[in-house]
Amino acid sequence: MSKLDDIVSLCKRRGFIFPGSDIYGGMAGTWDFGPLGVQLKNNLVNTWWNYWVDKRDDMFGIDAAIIMNPITWEVSGHTATFADPLIECNDCHSRFRADKLVDGYSESITTEEFKAINPKCPNCGKTNWGTIRKFNMMFQTHVGAVTPEDENGSETDKELARRSIAYLRPETAQGIFTNYKNVVDTIYPSMPFGLCQFGKSFRNEISPRDYILRDRECSQFEIEYFVKPDTWEENFESIRTEYLEFLQKYLGLSKAKIHELEVPEEDRAFYSKRTIDIMYEYPNGEEELMGIAYRTDYDLGNVAKASGKNMEYRDKNTGETFVPHVIEPSMGLERAILAILSEAYTEDEINGEKRVLLKLPEGLAPYKFCVSPLLKNKPELVEKAKFVYNKLKEKYTFVTWDDSGNIGKRYRKQDEIGTPKCVVIDFDTLEDDTVTVRDRDTAEQVRVKIEEL
Ligand code: GAP
Repeated sequence: MSKLDDIVSLCKRRGFIFPGSDIYGGMAGTWDFGPLGVQLKNNLVNTWWNYWVDKRDDMFGIDAAIIMNPITWEVSGHTATFADPLIECNDCHSRFRADKLVDGYSESITTEEFKAINPKCPNCGKTNWGTIRKFNMMFQTHVGAVTPEDENGSETDKELARRSIAYLRPETAQGIFTNYKNVVDTIYPSMPFGLCQFGKSFRNEISPRDYILRDRECSQFEIEYFVKPDTWEENFESIRTEYLEFLQKYLGLSKAKIHELEVPEEDRAFYSKRTIDIMYEYPNGEEELMGIAYRTDYDLGNVAKASGKNMEYRDKNTGETFVPHVIEPSMGLERAILAILSEAYTEDEINGEKRVLLKLPEGLAPYKFCVSPLLKNKPELVEKAKFVYNKLKEKYTFVTWDDSGNIGKRYRKQDEIGTPKCVVIDFDTLEDDTVTVRDRDTAEQVRVKIEEL
C-alpha cells in the first residue's frame, strides 16, 4: 500500500473522510466529512479565520450567497472562458481532460498537439480521438418554478427556462467583488484592505481524481486584497511571505515540501497579470495547494461597467481616487486538509511494536485530550476520571472519553486520530490527585496535578 492508500484507509476507518453518497455506490468528485473530519475542518477554518481576519486590522469577513445573479459570471468571464479541454474517444466514447492525458501541456492544448502525441485511451487502449472541445465547468441550475419539460415546451416556456438559468458559484471570489462597494460604503476601511471569505465552490470537473485534490464540490479560502495600483508588487510580496509562514507555523507543513511556481503567461487565468502557484509534495507527487494571483482591476473594472456603479476608492489622506487593484491568495480546503494529513501521518515503533500516529498541530487536532480510567470496572476510578473529564471539557471543549479495551489499545487509537495528550486516572490519583499524562509524539508519561492540567 502507498502512503496515500494508508491515509485514505485511516481517514475512512477513523471517521475523518468518507466517499460522498457511499451507501448508494458513491458520487464522483464528492466527499463527506465524518465526526473527526468535521472537527479537523472546523479547526482549520477557525485557525485560518483567526490568523487572517480576527488578528488583523486590515482584513474583514464576508459570507455571500452561493447562487448569484448569472450576470456575475458573464462579467467575470466565467461564462465564456471557464472551460477545460474535453476530448472523446471515438471508440468507447469515454471523455477525458485532454491536457491530463499527455505530459507537459496546459489547458490551452490544441487538437493538433494532442494528436501529435496520440496517447492511448485509458479506458479501451485505442487511439481514435475526436477533436478537443471547450467544456464549461460551471454547474447550471434553474431558479424558480421551472421544470425540465419547460426546456422543450412552447416558446414561452423555453424563454422562461432560459431566463431562469443560474449557476452554482465556481469560485467564492465574485461574492467579494460584488460586495466591495457595499463594504466601502458601510465601513470605509483604510487602503490597503482585504475581504476574506470561506465557503463552497462547485466545478464540474471532467475527471475528478487524486482523492480529495480535484473535487466537483470543494471549499475555498479566498482573500481579495485591495491595493493602490502602484503598490501591487510590495503587497504581493508581503501576502506571499505571510502565507508561507502561515502554512508552516499553523498547518504544520514543512518548508522542504512547499515549492513556489511562477506561472508563465500562457498558463495563467485570463484575469491574472502574475500568479504564483504554491505547490506541495503530496504522497503521490507535487500538486497545487493554492495560488496567489495579481488580478489587477480586471474584476472591479468589469463590475463597474456592468453595474453602472462607481468602484473608485477615495484615499482618506490624499483625497486621490482610483479603482483598487487586487492581490488574491486562494486556497482549497480539501487540498489543505490532505497536505496537513500527509505531513502528520507517521509510522514508528514503540518497544518493538509498530504504530501509526497523526502528528497534527495541537490547534488542528480534533481532540486536545483523551481522558480514561485505568480500569473501567473500578467505580472509584471511573468516578474520578469523570470528574477530570468534565473539568477538562469545560476548559478545552474538545476532549474525548475512552474506557474501551486496555490502556495500550486506547493509546494506539488516540495516536491514530492525532490526540496530543492522554490523561489516565489510576489508584495513585485517588491518593494524591495526580494523573498520568502521556504525550502522543514521544509516548513519554509524566505525573501532573489535576489542577495543573
Ligand atoms: N478565485 C481564484 C480561483 O478560484 P483556482 O486556481 O481556480 O483560483 C484556487 O482555485 C484554489 O482552489 C486551488 O489552488 C485549489 O486549492 C482549490 N481548488 C480549485 N479547484 C478545485 C477542485 N476541483 N477541487 C479541490 N480544490 C480545488
